[in-house]
Parts: sequence; structure tokens; C-alpha cells
Amino acid sequence: MDRFRDRVAVVTGAGSGIGRALALALAGRGCKIVLADVEAKPLSEVEDAVKALDVEALAVETDVGNAESMAALANATVGQFGATHILCNNAGVGGGGLIKNQQLVDWKWLINVNLWGVIHGLQYFLPHLIQADEAHIVSTASVAGLYSLPGLGPYNATKYGVVAIMETLYAEMAQDDGSNIDVSVLCPGVVNTNIASAHRNRPQSFRRKRASPGNGKEDRDHNEAKKRNATIAAALKTGKDPAEIAEIVMEAIVERRFWILSHQEHLQDVRKRNDALYGLVNPTPPREIF
Ligand SMILES: NC(=O)c1ccc[n+]([C@@H]2O[C@H](COP(=O)([O-])OP(=O)(O)OC[C@H]3O[C@@H](n4cnc5c(N)ncnc54)[C@H](O)[C@@H]3O)[C@@H](O)[C@H]2O)c1
Repeated sequence: MDRFRDRVAVVTGAGSGIGRALALALAGRGCKIVLADVEAKPLSEVEDAVKALDVEALAVETDVGNAESMAALANATVGQFGATHILCNNAGVGGGGLIKNQQLVDWKWLINVNLWGVIHGLQYFLPHLIQADEAHIVSTASVAGLYSLPGLGPYNATKYGVVAIMETLYAEMAQDDGSNIDVSVLCPGVVNTNIASAHRNRPQSFRRKRASPGNGKEDRDHNEAKKRNATIAAALKTGKDPAEIAEIVMEAIVERRFWILSHQEHLQDVRKRNDALYGLVNPTPPREIF
């Protein structure tokens, strides 16, 4: 059976980067697409691009970190198309800075979007996915969910969390003889997207407290994060094209593969981390990717 034609696919974070590319790749294969994003304008631009591929599309302004908003997305999907077959839990935000310089709102914002976004996706879509004849869930984690990059504490924590959730779900589905659901986790390296400006979507309630002028420590913390984020932004420009990542995801869906690694060179970093663990040797810092 065709894994895509006339299937209903939901993509969160569809307004930009990897989500946009996933939506276009799924539409190109004949899926009906539900596009979800917190940013209205890019969302409607992607809706137009998807419809130009001659498939049905529904765009729903959604905050993945908000339970009611995600419940509404699931209701809108089933209301419009009657089913869900493919769920791409992809929306995410990032930001760098040393753990010693983080404010609680830095942790809370990333956990809210990157981790609660995935949890909400599972909570509200699993009941529908279970009813489909076959279904597939792909959640976007990162290589930062496989080994820990310095300067990305909150991000690493959320991405390890996404990998753990998806591994658990995979195991539970494998133990369930009657399961119709395939499960994958996408762990990209550096991809050329807009994630370096993720703060554009940072709600007021999760904003950092302004540094008090003349407070030496706060100024240093702020400058450290600013410098790190500028380095990340420059590195992202040299990253892979999101369309390339989307094609790798499409292959993995067809092949029912759990691990989706678009940058396999990072496996050596994962091995180094795991070798230290097996040998009960203290971790050594991984090579910098930013
Ligand atoms: N770009 C990379 O190098 C890279 C590497 C590994 C993993 N990832 C992951 O890929 C995923 C997609 O990010 P991207 O790189 O394409 O970034 P991006 O900023 O280009 O796209 C992310 C999209 O998510 C949306 N979004 C942000 N907060 C949201 C919320 N609360 N609710 C709904 N939508 C929201 C944004 O508006 C944006 O359209 C993220 O989970 C990210 O962590 C990216």
C-alpha cells in the first residue's frame, strides 16, 4: 500500500525550515496536509505552496506547548479529514548559553515547546492514529539528544527527552502484536533553517529578565549567550538543506526505520560518549559543531 497517497499528515513547525520541507515532501507524495505553526504569515505561505502541489491542506495556528491549542489541532484535523495517518512532531526552538548563565525561563521555554510539544502531540493524536489502518509518528529530536553538546544544556535536555519518549513508544508498539503504528526519531546535525532566530516566537511569559545596566555578571552572561548564538547562526548557514532532510525522512517512513540520522558522521561522537559510559570513564567534551 502507498504510505503517502491520500494519507492525512500533520506537521508541526510547518512554517519554516525542516517542518516546511517535510510538509512539501509529504504533499509531493500525495498526502493531505495539516500544517501547524505558531507564526501565522509563514504558515499561510506554506499553505499556498502545498496547495499549489494540488493536494488538500489545512493550516491551523497552533502553539504546541499549549495543551488546548494541540487538542484543537487534533479536533480540526479529524473534523476536516476524518483521520490522521502521519504525525510529524517537529516544532522546536533553540538557544545557547552555559548552564551557569541560564535563567529558569530559558529552561522553561525550551521544555515547553520541545518536550511538551511532543507530549501534547502524542496525547491528542495517538487516539486517532490508533484507529487508522496504518500510521507513522516521526518526532524531531537532534544529535543533541544522543550526546551532550556544551553550551546547549536546556536544548540537550529536551532532545534527550524526545529520544527517550520515542524509544519507549517504539518498544511499547513492538510489544503490541496488534500495533498499526510505526515510530521514528529524527536526529539531525546542522541544518540551514531559521532556528537561530527562534526567539522571534518567545512569549513574554518566557522572556529573560533584562540585565540591569552596569551589573558586570549579567552583562557577561548576556554577552556569552549572544556570542554563542552568533556562532550558531553562522554555522547553521553552512548546514544541510532542509529538503535533503525531508527526503531522508520520507525514505525512513517507507522503510519503517526508527533512527533517522541525516548526519551519520555524528555516530562517532555518540560512540565516544557510549564507550566512556561502558568503560565507566568520565566524559570528555565532544568536538564542537558550532
Ligand atoms: N536546524 C538545525 O540545525 C536542527 C538540528 C537538529 C534538530 N533541529 C530541530 O528541528 C526542528 C525544526 O526546527 P528548524 O531548524 O526547522 O527551525 P525553524 O525555526 O526554521 O522552524 C521551526 C518552526 O517551529 C515553529 N514554532 C516555534 N515555536 C512553536 C510553538 N510553540 N508552536 C508551534 N510552532 C512553533 C516556528 O515558528 C518555526 O516555523 C526543531 O525541533 C529543532 O530543534 C534543528
